[in-house]
Amino acid sequence: MTLQHRTVQPKILYYGTPVVLLSTCNEDGTTNISPISSSWALGSCLVLGLGCGGKGLENLKRYPECVINLPDPSLWRHVERLALLTGKTPVPSSKKELGFRYEKDKFSAAKLTPCESEKVRPARIAECPLQIEASVQDIRIPENHPWFAVVETETRRVHAREAYILGDHYIDPNQWRPLIYNFRHYFSLGEELGKTARAET
Ligand SMILES: Cc1cc2nc3c(=O)[nH]c(=O)nc-3n(C[C@H](O)[C@H](O)[C@H](O)COP(=O)(O)O)c2cc1C
Repeated sequence: MTLQHRTVQPKILYYGTPVVLLSTCNEDGTTNISPISSSWALGSCLVLGLGCGGKGLENLKRYPECVINLPDPSLWRHVERLALLTGKTPVPSSKKELGFRYEKDKFSAAKLTPCESEKVRPARIAECPLQIEASVQDIRIPENHPWFAVVETETRRVHAREAYILGDHYIDPNQWRPLIYNFRHYFSLGEELGKTARAET
């Protein structure tokens, strides 16, 4: 293997993060679904990166609750059915140019099933093995990148498919597999390599 590098100007830097299907509340109480891959967790806080031109952010500004649904790799085709849909009408010109069209009922469009949440208003997605109900605590537009928002959320309730729960308080890393968005292609995870010194399972 050569260790030589050369400089490159990649068009995208999506280097492999889990896909999230974000449920938010439309004006009429129905649920919109936005596929995103920009998220990270620290403690009970989940931070999301949302484009300013989407329905997801518009909904969160009006009604600050969401569900962070995590699909597994078997659901990639369902996710992809949403890839060129927006809940925003009229479709913003920046999205129109990319081939987006308006769709109000994202559940039907993606062949997914809504399921009532317990602590928040937007619906969960029944097919997703992990569903995190959350409240939005802050929405910031970065001064240098005003085309997206950094959305800070606090977890209110976590639902996990029975088979993925270890003891009472852990998700089993040998059962759960996220769907990974890797430079705009969908991937699964490989086998376990090892664990960190702080692993409790
Ligand atoms: C797999 C995948 C990952 C995406 N990641 C993001 C993301 O992290 N942030 C974002 O704002 N849009 C992301 N998008 C694009 C949004 O899905 C798109 O903007 C869509 O319009 C959102 O739907 P909405 O307008 O109804 O909210 C992603 C799309 C796909 C298919």
